[in-house]
Amino acid sequence: PPRSLVRDPALGPITIAHRGYSSLAPENTLAAVEAALRSGAEMIEIDTYTSADDATIVIHDSTVDRTTDGTGAVDALSSAQLAELDAGSWFSSAYVDEPLPHLEQVLDLIKGRGPTLLLEIKPGASYDETEMQLQAVLDRDMVDQVVVQSFDAQVIRDAKTIAPEIPRGFLTGSVSGDLVAVANELGLSAYNPSVGAVLGRPEAVAELNAAGIAVMPWTVDDAGTWARLAEIGVDGIITNRPGEHIGFRQGS
Ligand code: G3P
Ligand code: CA
Repeated sequence: PPRSLVRDPALGPITIAHRGYSSLAPENTLAAVEAALRSGAEMIEIDTYTSADDATIVIHDSTVDRTTDGTGAVDALSSAQLAELDAGSWFSSAYVDEPLPHLEQVLDLIKGRGPTLLLEIKPGASYDETEMQLQAVLDRDMVDQVVVQSFDAQVIRDAKTIAPEIPRGFLTGSVSGDLVAVANELGLSAYNPSVGAVLGRPEAVAELNAAGIAVMPWTVDDAGTWARLAEIGVDGIITNRPGEHIGFRQGS
């Protein structure tokens, strides 16, 4: 079975950098991942879509419109076309020509450096696309440094078939129904709800933890909510401000 992600409540939640250190550098770029590595965050989250020629591209949206100087759907563009795009200028002139990374580049940047990659495979990925991504993890012997998550239950089922030893997280905007039953069906190590959903049902954290399942809500950037989530015992906090969250944990 995959390793446990449940944290000793006395230690408080870990810090998970959302899309890299995305308040400091353009989200889902190598610059944002490098900044997250230096921040001391224990986990770094990124998102992926697949290009027209089957490269795994690190990007949050299904199109390049918002975060690059180009337009169009990622799955309609070739990796050569995607390589021409500037994924940094929209954020700041300090990041002109920052490229859209491939998953393999992020894995190579992180490998051996401590933090775990929280790899979000965006909804609708095919079995083959999920397999290609997890194979990149296996090829690099990075099972111990990756957690895969998705809003798409089919992606989670596929991941369980392809690489059962890589821990799986399920993303959801609601905390309802029999959570442990869902977690068992998908073979989850983590249940990752929106912050609003978990604050509406805080007792779910202990319930899931007792079944060996971690809870890592998203996306939380303010100290008041960091404190409340620590109180209810979540295992990790997904934040755009990982450096500030670490400062908060240290009481500074
Ligand atoms: O990691 C959880 C969070 O990233 C899910 O929402 O839209 O930011 O990918 P989104
Ligand atoms: Ca995400």
